[in-house]
Parts: sequence; structure tokens; C-alpha cells
Amino acid sequence: MEKEQEKRNIEIEKELINDLKEVKKPNDLVQVKAKYLGKEGIISLLTKNMRDLKPEERASYGKLVTEIRNKALELLDDKEKKLKEELLNKKLKEETIDITLPSKKIRHGSIHPFNMIVEEIEDLFVSMGYDIIDGPELETDEYCFQRLNIPYGHPVRDTQDSFYVDKDYLLRTQTSSVQAHTMEQNIDKGPIRMICPGKTYRRDDDATHSHQFGQFEGLVIDKGITLADLKGTLLVMARKLLGEKTNVRFRPSFFPFTEPSVEVDVTCFKCNGKGCSLCKNTGWIELLGAGMVHPNVLRDNGYDPNKYTGFAFGTGIDRLAMMKYSIPDIRLMYTNDYRFLNEFMRKDVK
Ligand code: DAH
Repeated sequence: MEKEQEKRNIEIEKELINDLKEVKKPNDLVQVKAKYLGKEGIISLLTKNMRDLKPEERASYGKLVTEIRNKALELLDDKEKKLKEELLNKKLKEETIDITLPSKKIRHGSIHPFNMIVEEIEDLFVSMGYDIIDGPELETDEYCFQRLNIPYGHPVRDTQDSFYVDKDYLLRTQTSSVQAHTMEQNIDKGPIRMICPGKTYRRDDDATHSHQFGQFEGLVIDKGITLADLKGTLLVMARKLLGEKTNVRFRPSFFPFTEPSVEVDVTCFKCNGKGCSLCKNTGWIELLGAGMVHPNVLRDNGYDPNKYTGFAFGTGIDRLAMMKYSIPDIRLMYTNDYRFLNEFMRKDVK
């Protein structure tokens, strides 16, 4: 009887293992469980057989039945665990996010070369103790011209072909107008150190002139300011903005609001001063106008020219950006062409 049951146990185990192989989902497992351990299950029926046995056979038979029941429970349990694990893995696999997939490209902006250079200029002058001043773009004839020693009928007005709004108002042709505002608004009439970047307007339109362009003006007023201070300041500026090897040279010139006036050249950034087509073989490129503030301008804006002197300079921002970034046409600065703007996109941002 014992031998027989041992054989039977092996058969049951084999059958159960085979049955379990077919099970693919937890629901099917319920049926298999019922087949062996349910009320009428194969193993449950074994227990019922006990009644027909002789008392001395019962103990060893009972032990074998318990063994196969435990074995069955163990196999079913293992299978259940395996099924759950498979299910979880499948779910994880299906729901994983593939982070290597390329994302949707979002078009983002970049800093415009005009603003790049303005920021650079502002940082430089702030580091030297200058204030950054804003002035009105819609200006009066008085501040744009008269207070800068350019009375009505002065021939220099011809070179600044203006957009007049009416008899008295115009779009400013130069940021020099902010000089007059700053001097006037400085109530204690003490020292001034300022730059004023901003937009300016003239009736021009070609590859090197736009009807709207940027200028920035610098103004320093104090006791004992000389032309040497101007030269030193412009040398620092030119070297910081255009490269440490840059030199500056002064040429005598004329502006109504400065006396003496100079035109300032910088070493040609293309040939480093050797001479090329850009600098017409001179090795120099004209950068800006400057000079010592004219006594009339000091006086007209409330300063005593016997106590104070000052220097001023003014230059085109676009011109500087064009030099620094080798931009061939000023109109590129204002037409928002993506091909142009992309050149200034930070390459580390995708
Ligand atoms: N305002 C002049 C222009 O637009 C540039 C200039 C020249 C500004 C000499 C100055 C200066 O402050 O001193 O052409």
C-alpha cells in the first residue's frame, strides 16, 4: 500500500507539473488548484480513502498524503508568484518611457546681436562707475539740436536728415540729446559719468545705413577732465569690445557740441592693421566721433565751463556689432530672418 502510494505521489506531482506548464494566467491557476485540492480534487480524495485502510497503515499513508499536499501547495504557490512576476515585468516593459527618443523640437528665442553688444557695453561701463541713462526717442528740436550748439539753420542739420513729427518734435537723430537731459536734470551740477544706449532715426536706407539704428553716447563731466582721459577710456573700450591688441588713433574733426572734436579710428579687426580691402589698406577703421564738451553746451545746460570740463563720444551700436560679428548688411539687424538669428543661438541649447 505504501509503495503504491509513493508511486501515485510521483504520478500526481508529474501531472501537476504538466498542468502548471499550460497555465498562462492567474485565473487558469484556480482551475488547476481545484483539480488537485478542491473538494473533489485528486489529493482531497486521497484523504477520504483513509477510512478504508487498516489502522496500522493509516499513519504512513497519511504522511504520504500530507507530503503530496504540501508539494502541490508549494508548486501552485511558485507558479502563482512566477505569473505575478511575469505580469509585472510585462507591465513595466509596456509602460516604460524611452528616454532616448528625440523630443519635439521647440523653437526658442536667442539674444539678438544688438542686445548682446549693448549688454557687453553696459557691463563694461558699469564696471568703470558709469550710470546707464535712458532718454526719449520722440525728442524736441531743442534737446536734439539747440542745446547741443546746433541752432536753427546750422548746416550740420543737413547731415542728420530727420523724421519730423511736427514743427517742434522729431524722432531723435542722435543719442547726444540725452547729454542735454542728463546735464539739465543733474540738480547739484556735479560730476557726471554716464552712457546712454538707445534707438535713433534718420532718413537713410542702404547696406550700411538703416532708417532706425542704435547709438550710444558717453558723457563724463568733472573738474580737470582732459582729452587724455577720453583717449584712455576709448582705448579700454576698444580693447574690451574688439580685442586686446586693438589700438585707437585720433583724427581732428568737427562736431558742433565738442571742441576740440576728433574722429576715432581703431585697428582694422580684419587684417589686424596690416591693410586690407575693408580698411582700404590704411589698417584703420573709423569707429566713433568724440571730443571735449563745447563750453556753449556746458553753459546752455547749466554748467560753469570755467569750473568744469568734460568729454563726450558717440557711436553706432549696429556698426560695432557688425564689426564684432562680421555682419555684412545692417538691414539684417532689423529683419528678423531666422537664418541670421540662428547664428547667434547658443550652441549648447538644443
Ligand atoms: N552724435 C554724433 C553722430 O550721431 C556722434 C558724436 C560725435 C557724439 C561726437 C558725441 C561726440 O558725443 O562728442 O554722428
